[in-house]
Amino acid sequence: MSKEPKKAGLKKGLTSYGDPGFSLFLRKAFIKAMGYSDDALTRPIVGITNTYSDYNPCHGNVPQLIEAAKRGVMLAGAMPMVFPTISIAESFSFPTSMYLRNLMAMDTEEMIRAQPMDSVIVIGGCDKTLPAQIMAAVSADLPTVVIPVGPMVVGHHKGEVLGACTDCRRMWGKYRAGEIDDAEIEAVNGRLAPSVGTCMVMGTASTMACITETLGLSLPMSATIPAPHSERVRCAEASGKVAAEMAITGGPRPSELVTPAALKNAQVVLQAIGGSTNGLIHLTAIANRTPHKVDLAAFDQLSRDVPVLIDLKPSGAHYMEHFHHAGGVPKLMKQLGDLLDLNAKTIEGKTLRDVVAGAEEVPGQDAIRSRNDPITPEGAMAVLHGNLAPRGAIINHSAATPKLLQHTGRAIVFESVEDMTLRIDDPKLDVNADDVLVLRNAGPKGAPGMPEAGYLPIPQKLLRSGVKDMVRISDARMSGTAFGTIVLHITPESAVGGPLALVKTGDTIKLDVKNRKIDLMVDAAELKKRQAALAERTTPEWAKRGYAHLFNETITQADEGCDFDFMRRDGK
Ligand code: FES
Repeated sequence: MSKEPKKAGLKKGLTSYGDPGFSLFLRKAFIKAMGYSDDALTRPIVGITNTYSDYNPCHGNVPQLIEAAKRGVMLAGAMPMVFPTISIAESFSFPTSMYLRNLMAMDTEEMIRAQPMDSVIVIGGCDKTLPAQIMAAVSADLPTVVIPVGPMVVGHHKGEVLGACTDCRRMWGKYRAGEIDDAEIEAVNGRLAPSVGTCMVMGTASTMACITETLGLSLPMSATIPAPHSERVRCAEASGKVAAEMAITGGPRPSELVTPAALKNAQVVLQAIGGSTNGLIHLTAIANRTPHKVDLAAFDQLSRDVPVLIDLKPSGAHYMEHFHHAGGVPKLMKQLGDLLDLNAKTIEGKTLRDVVAGAEEVPGQDAIRSRNDPITPEGAMAVLHGNLAPRGAIINHSAATPKLLQHTGRAIVFESVEDMTLRIDDPKLDVNADDVLVLRNAGPKGAPGMPEAGYLPIPQKLLRSGVKDMVRISDARMSGTAFGTIVLHITPESAVGGPLALVKTGDTIKLDVKNRKIDLMVDAAELKKRQAALAERTTPEWAKRGYAHLFNETITQADEGCDFDFMRRDGK
């Protein structure tokens, strides 16, 4: 045994005892307790993150994916080593999963750094997990393969196709409006999520899986293969082989893949899939861990140049399995053609041009449209500015009611998520369909964690009179599975004194998506008076200690990706 071990495999990152030879000797002695042979212990190592949790049904197939990935690693001559990281499921995270994304990213990054591995496979799927794993991988910059867990298959109810969670909201809306009864909503509850896997509409999970594939960080088709399909397991095995080759050759690293061209490609795809608004925050956070940036003005320009080509809920009609059977992301990229930089590289050392060349032609499919026949001629998301949103706000206008995209209305203000919950269905609430519902104190610091509360429910009395959509604005986020004329991510948020804090019920708000404007129609002198009267923010009770304190002190605003300020590439 050499006294100066080379930094590969088990010899990487030796625990510090002041004698590297002894450190390796001790490490081998302990790992042999697990039954490993010397042959196994001299191989390049592929770390695999285990993000399985009984609290995360979206990741229910992770054990099977890990087994397949390990098989792939061993078939290619390397050594797989599985390690746990935290797992985050949307509906099991209090106060909201976004509060925990950065914790997961830190956990994964530090465990990649701390343990000996030559490449890593990160497994994610449920909304915050893919961004967290990619943020970690980009910061650690070890050769990385991403395996998304894949979308659920669709459910059925009374002859209708159902999917989580666009139809969760639609059916709950019907129940609130009295259109379906207790027994039927219970039946629907058992049919919305018929398998393990992520929400099968173009929500945040699907959006991030498509972005991951576009960035070249996962294998072709890996975004769309349904979670329960055998093809998903074979994809995991193939991913294992690629990760083993990367461990042996030492590349490519995320820094070689997440380039300005790749980030622009991801933004083009985000627009073209009618993706989740959350995708923009996550992509911004990923970019901020590289030397590159997501520029909101350039992203908005893409929304004018890039058509929506994917006909998926919530903007369209289909679900992820239909996108998959139509040819998946490779076929979409083929349709996008010169809107993408096809020279961008992938984990296999290929280019997107190679991936596009392998795209399947599926006669008669209607889930992936051509640029001559788009779902909408413009992209899904527009970036708004104005005196209400000096650093920007976002609207998914492909999922909005067209006539509400130019709208002026009276503000009805809710101080917080709790205030909204208490009053929204009060029959005495003075509200009509032309009003603009305003929610504040729901941003990164305000709520905290910027919950997906931006989908303010339509007041029950309006719902029952047939109102399906209203203009709603907030500093919150919204699930990518939701729909409506909803302005989100108003930045800076109200809790840090953003102009949303100045709105009073009865003020007039003007939304002008065509000109990318959102304004409070109150004169500047009055706004200045209101600003001066705002109380200064002090540390809230919930943020006095622990992770909450770190979160409150260091979380950045939506336009910076809501990462901790000290986790960006150049630190604080
Ligand atoms: Fe996990 Fe939707 S709840 S992806």
